[in-house]
Amino acid sequence: MCHGLPDQPSPDIADAMFPNAPQFMRLPQVIGSRPDSDFWKVKNGVRLTGMPSYQNLLSDDQIRQVVGLLADRRMLPPEVKDALASK
Ligand code: HEM
Repeated sequence: MCHGLPDQPSPDIADAMFPNAPQFMRLPQVIGSRPDSDFWKVKNGVRLTGMPSYQNLLSDDQIRQVVGLLADRRMLPPEVKDALASK
């Protein structure tokens, strides 16, 4: 609902918040290649932005998995892209 999906238009609210929610699936590899800071941001959120904290919603392992997905988003196997697209 915020960062978008592969081959999909940006979600409506992505540009409706300031700062905008980065469209990871479109961004060059830089974003998502800092697993430690991404882990921290997903776990704790980013203050004064729309980025929520997931520490009460996802386990550390689950956060590592989604951060891993961001890091590998340029080489997602078709079944993963299909799974994302069907959400
Ligand atoms: C598990 C789900 C999510 C993951 C893995 C995730 C991941 C991230 C990461 C890694 C960043 C930092 C990017 C950077 O360093 O520039 C970020 C930033 C951001 N996220 Fe999320 N996010 C999630 C859910 C959401 C949701 C639901 C929203 C909107 C309600 C959101 C809105 C934002 C915004 C606005 C920023 C930019 C913050 C800034 O400019 O500092 N994210 N997100």
